[in-house]
Amino acid sequence: MKTRISASLDCANYLALLEDVRKLERAGIEMLHIDIMDGVFVPNFAIGTNLLKKLRPQTSLLFDVHLMVVNPEAHFSLFAQLGADSITFHAEGNPRLHHLVDAVKRLGKKVGIALNPSTSPEFLRYLLPYLDLVLCMTVDPGFVGQRFVPEVVAKVEVIRKMSLELGVAVDIAVDGGISEETVPQLKRAGANVFVAGTSSIFSGREDLEAAARRFREFCERL
Ligand code: DX5
Ligand code: ZN
Repeated sequence: MKTRISASLDCANYLALLEDVRKLERAGIEMLHIDIMDGVFVPNFAIGTNLLKKLRPQTSLLFDVHLMVVNPEAHFSLFAQLGADSITFHAEGNPRLHHLVDAVKRLGKKVGIALNPSTSPEFLRYLLPYLDLVLCMTVDPGFVGQRFVPEVVAKVEVIRKMSLELGVAVDIAVDGGISEETVPQLKRAGANVFVAGTSSIFSGREDLEAAARRFREFCERL
């Protein structure tokens, strides 16, 4: 599977957002990771719909929407209209997963399922053939800058093995504390999409364009 970087929009500089987006484009980043938080599924709020409406016509970066909301089905068509290229929702609290996956696909979008660090991956054996993406959270969702949960590396390995056994080409993304320190083990385990936040390209220690180019090359080279 192709290695790709999804830059976490919520970590960007909102006061100069378009400038940051241009830097990501010039650095060869392909996707924007868009965290949607409703203050209920996670105790925080993030990224409003008006911002996405204004941003969509400005860039051709793919919109990789990560819904951290209760009752995600109620919002699928809204995010599809806002220009999402893929819609990922959580397994936790959603018992009708095949139904939800179908609902996203009917909108013509790629579909992903997100798993919190403590969620076991076994159920995916029955779902992987229907998915484009599995998003393994490497922190509990809700906040930037949290400590990476190392046990998730083994989970990524289980999911990649399952996908090979089933013969399905599924992207495995990792989100939270993704850095030059954590990427090598995750990539070896089978992850191929890396959500870049404050632990890498948005650390503020380096110009965003240079950091994004370097991090992308680092991930691809491994
Ligand atoms: C969790 C957040 C983080 C963020 C990544 O809900 O969504 O995953 O995007 O940023 P860092 O690198 O700070 O974990
Ligand atoms: Zn996310």
